[in-house]
Amino acid sequence: MQKFSKNSKLIKKIPLRLLLVIPFVLQVFVVVGLVGYFSYVRGQKAVNNLANQLMDKTSQQLDGHLDNYLALPLQIAQMNLNAITTGNLNINDQTKNERYFWQQAQAFKNITYVGYTLNDGTELGAGRWIKGLDVLTYENLKGSGKASDFTTDAQGNRRERLQSYDYDPLSEPWYKQTVSMGKLIWNQIYVAQNSSIEVTQAGKAHNTNVDNSLEYYVAVSARAPFYDKNGNLLGTTGVDLLLTDISKFLHNLNVSHKGQVFIMERNGLLVGTSTTHPILYSVKDTAERYNARQSPNPIIRAVASGIQKRFGDFQNIQAVKNTQEVDIIYNGERYFVRVTPWQDERGLDWLMVVTIPESDFMAEINANTRTTILLCLAALGITVLLGICTASWITRPVLQLAQATEAISTGKVNQIIRESIIHEINLLSLSFNRMAQQLRSAFTALETTNQELEKTNAELETRVLERTKQLENTLHELKQAQAHLVQTEKMSALGQMVAGVAHEINNPVSFIYGNLVHVNNYTQDLFRLIRVYQDALPNPPDTVQEVIDEIELDFIQSDLNKTFNSMQTGAKRIKQIVLSLRNFSRLDEADFKEADIHEGIDSTLMILEYRLKAQTYRPEIQVIKQYAKLPLIKCYAGQLNQVFKNLLFNAIDALEETISENRDIIPTITISTYMIENIISICIIDNAKGIDESIKSKLFDPFFTTKAVGKGTGLGLSVSYQIVVEKHCGRLWCDSIPGKGSKFFIEIPTNL
Ligand SMILES: Nc1ncnc2c1ncn2[C@@H]1O[C@H](COP(=O)(O)OP(=O)(O)O)[C@@H](O)[C@H]1O
Ligand SMILES: [Mg+2]
Repeated sequence: MQKFSKNSKLIKKIPLRLLLVIPFVLQVFVVVGLVGYFSYVRGQKAVNNLANQLMDKTSQQLDGHLDNYLALPLQIAQMNLNAITTGNLNINDQTKNERYFWQQAQAFKNITYVGYTLNDGTELGAGRWIKGLDVLTYENLKGSGKASDFTTDAQGNRRERLQSYDYDPLSEPWYKQTVSMGKLIWNQIYVAQNSSIEVTQAGKAHNTNVDNSLEYYVAVSARAPFYDKNGNLLGTTGVDLLLTDISKFLHNLNVSHKGQVFIMERNGLLVGTSTTHPILYSVKDTAERYNARQSPNPIIRAVASGIQKRFGDFQNIQAVKNTQEVDIIYNGERYFVRVTPWQDERGLDWLMVVTIPESDFMAEINANTRTTILLCLAALGITVLLGICTASWITRPVLQLAQATEAISTGKVNQIIRESIIHEINLLSLSFNRMAQQLRSAFTALETTNQELEKTNAELETRVLERTKQLENTLHELKQAQAHLVQTEKMSALGQMVAGVAHEINNPVSFIYGNLVHVNNYTQDLFRLIRVYQDALPNPPDTVQEVIDEIELDFIQSDLNKTFNSMQTGAKRIKQIVLSLRNFSRLDEADFKEADIHEGIDSTLMILEYRLKAQTYRPEIQVIKQYAKLPLIKCYAGQLNQVFKNLLFNAIDALEETISENRDIIPTITISTYMIENIISICIIDNAKGIDESIKSKLFDPFFTTKAVGKGTGLGLSVSYQIVVEKHCGRLWCDSIPGKGSKFFIEIPTNL
């Protein structure tokens, strides 16, 4: 059990509150997290789809536009070719042809030039190539060696020559290429300059629909050779298409916010872009096209590089009308890139590139994600709050229960749990309250029983105490009675014997003592008679002399006096002792009558004289008497003598005992008497070792003794107490300083 509780102490306890909140929070966290994650993934997918769709659409639009846009020059070229070969266009009718071309150029705004070049170098055409001026006509006459530009009127008639210059078309690569190919083809894209020329008032009048911003322009020519009936080359016919308009179209496509479209050739040279960045840059007095990888637009640059990295070379991009998708990262942003080849059988082979930054779509997705995260956090917060509320809702009554249980275990049974709205806890509360009620009843019953028991116990105790006291008293009385009995017996036997002996001795001693005087007188008389005889008979007969010598009469005469004296002293002493004995026992005076206290003390001392004398092991015990003048008092004299004897005996015993331990003291007993008012006090003082505090209360108990068996009976003080207190209505007490000595006081009232 103990081991168990020790272990359970080591394991950290999980509070219920945490236990209730954490699963909730975890659940919500997981669910919300999953929802957030999936919505993000779905968003990504949607973005991809959307981007693809958009790029698809854009590519298709562009594809269609290019198809349309680039079809026109081919058709015009083909038409002109047909017109020449069928003879509808006579290459010798210059004026008619010039108007014909003028009309074509006028009709199609994107055509910068339309005309033919004959194999002798003669050229005729119309178009737009000078800044600020609308359709011009052009002729290059073989032989005159000069090419000239003319302004025209509203019908296409020449008005004035703008300029003349040297130009040999036959040496141009486009001419050679067209001739060598032998069919309608696209020539190289070229960059041409919009010449700026002082223009006359008349010329200006026709300047409409011309973009003044064009310094240089990019164009491409569709050309076809034509032959005579014998198949001999007569010349070429051509149409120049302005490519700059492609950029305008691209710009208007509006793919997405930051989405871009550009078209480049397989060599990377830009054909058009949707950006505002130019595709041309000037070199000396001409201009060149940017390679996409060097475009001033960083995104075009990055995309072109990305494509090249992906395919190695632009040439490697599948020459079918398949799209190629590349994703590139630029500036930490993802760009979807769609590369679609655009080709025609006349020799154009371009790449249409559509690129859309992910951010154009992601902004909303990100906003969505942010909203989702915020919602998640809010849901989480609410869950935690709800969890905490629920937990405290559940824990509070549980805690109350626990506290109430704890209180009950410490004895506070007055516990009531409030009802809870949680059913199970309410059940628990109800059964707890029932249990507490039962406990209370049990406690009350127990307490009543306890009180009754205590009462009974107390009664019993008092009774036992009373009984004990009674018994003690009885025992005390019994002991005293017994002691008294013993003493009385002893004393009566001993006293009677002593009194008898004393009485018996008294007469002969008195007789001897009384007659000793007479004997002395008689002896003196006899000596006087002898002296008379000697005087009368100075020489006695020998027989007499012999007897005188034998008995040493002189010595007898001198010694007999001494002998008488000592006999007299001895007899006197015997008489005194006998008197003391009689005095002491006072058997003859057992009644209550007047007596001399000092006489009693003195005769007691007389009897005890043999004990006061010096012994081999100690000096004589000094007795100092300090007697006051006392009247005779009525008392049981014999019994009081008994008391003196007992106290003196104890003092002598104590002194002897003390001296055996300490030889330095002079053993002394002081007996003093005095009278104050009507009370006579006798004080017996010794300078022995005193009485121990612990035994003081027992001194007067019968049979209490500290002396060896056979030496003390323990009756002396108890009997004395009885005699003084009960027989004489007096007091007997002891005062002792341990180590210094003891004092015993006897007080006897005189007015008994
Ligand atoms: N003067 C005293 N000095 C010291 N002890 C005393 C004196 N008187 C009495 N006692 C003590 O009191 C005891 C009881 O005395 P007592 O009743 O006379 O019986 P007992 O003399 O036979 O012992 C003694 O044993 C002794 O120890
Ligand atoms: Mg004694």
